[in-house]
Amino acid sequence: MSNEVASQAVHEAFGGVVPELASRAHQQNIMPVIDRALKVANISPQELNAISFTNGPGLLGSLLVGTSFAKSMALALDIPLIPVHHMHAHVLAHLIEDAHPKPISFPYLCLTVSGGHTQLIEVLSSKEMKILGETIDDAVGEAFDKAAKILGLPYPGGPYIDRLSAKGDPTFMEFNESNLPDYNFSFSGMKTSFLYALQKEMKANPSFINDHLNDICASYQAALIKVLMKKVKAAQKSTGIKNVAIAGGVSANSGLRAALMQWGAQSDISIYLPPFQYTTDNAAMIGIAGYYQYLEGVNAPLSTSAQAKIKF
Ligand code: KG4
Ligand code: ZN
Repeated sequence: MSNEVASQAVHEAFGGVVPELASRAHQQNIMPVIDRALKVANISPQELNAISFTNGPGLLGSLLVGTSFAKSMALALDIPLIPVHHMHAHVLAHLIEDAHPKPISFPYLCLTVSGGHTQLIEVLSSKEMKILGETIDDAVGEAFDKAAKILGLPYPGGPYIDRLSAKGDPTFMEFNESNLPDYNFSFSGMKTSFLYALQKEMKANPSFINDHLNDICASYQAALIKVLMKKVKAAQKSTGIKNVAIAGGVSANSGLRAALMQWGAQSDISIYLPPFQYTTDNAAMIGIAGYYQYLEGVNAPLSTSAQAKIKF
C-alpha cells in the first residue's frame, strides 16, 4: 500500500558505505519512514496484520536497528513477526501485484545482481529456491562501483556508469573477462584489468579518462553485461525454464535490460524486468516476502536476531 525509502546520502561523501554511519542513519530514519509509510497507505498501526523485516544478510549494525524495531512493534501490536532473507526478497519482488502487467509464474530463473551479491537462482515457489551459481569474489554492483571510483565518479557509481555509457562506444576498449566453466561468476579480475588498462593509457595521455569517459564506461559496462548474459543464457538452456527475471540494484541498468529484452524478442523466453522502484533495496520486496510466510502462519520468537551472514 506504500513503499517508502529513506536513502542515505551520507555515504556519497565517503565514496562507499561506512558501516557505523549506516547504522546511525538507520536509527535516525526508521521512525520517520515508518510514520510516512503508514500515512501514505492511510492506515493506522492497529490495522497491520504482521511486521516483516530483513534479518540478514547485510551490515550487522543496520540489521540490528531494523530487527529491534520490528520486534518491538510486533510485540506492542501483538501481531506476527516475520524475518525475511534479503536476497529472497529481491527475487520475490517479482510477485508484487503491480510488478508486471502479466504476473510471473513459477518456475522462473532469476539473475540477482546487487551491490553485495550476484546469483543465478532457480525459483520453484516462494520458498523453494536453488542457487545455480554465484560470484566467487566481488558482486557485479561492486564491479560497477569500484570502477566508478577509479574514474572519479560519485558513490554508488553504477547509475553514473549506466548514464554515461548511453553516450559512449562499447567497442572502444576491451577488458579481460573471467571465464569460469559453470554458472559461477568472478568480477575482481575484471576490475583489476580495468585499472591496469586505464593506468597504461594514462601513461601516454594523462587526461585519457576525461577525454574518453563515455567510451570507457560503455566498454566496461558492455563487458560486465556480456558475462551476465552468457551465464543466464547457459542456465536457461540447461534448465529449460522459460521465464527469466532479473533483480537487485544492477537490474536497473539500462544496458542489461536492453540485452535481455533483445534476447526475449529473438527467442521464446519471457523476460521479466522489475519496475525501477523494485530494483534497488526497497520495503515492498520485504513486504511481499513476508506476506508469503504470513500465509503459512510464520511467527518468529522474540529471540530472533539479526545475522550478517545467513544461509540462503
Ligand atoms: O540491491 P541494491 O540496492 O543494494 C544491495 O543490496 O546491494 O544494489 C545496489 C547496487 C550498487 O552497486 C549500485 O551501483 C547498483 O546497485 N546500481 C546500478 C544501477 N543502479 C544501481 N548498477 C548499474 N546500473 C544501474 N543503473
Ligand atoms: Zn539488495
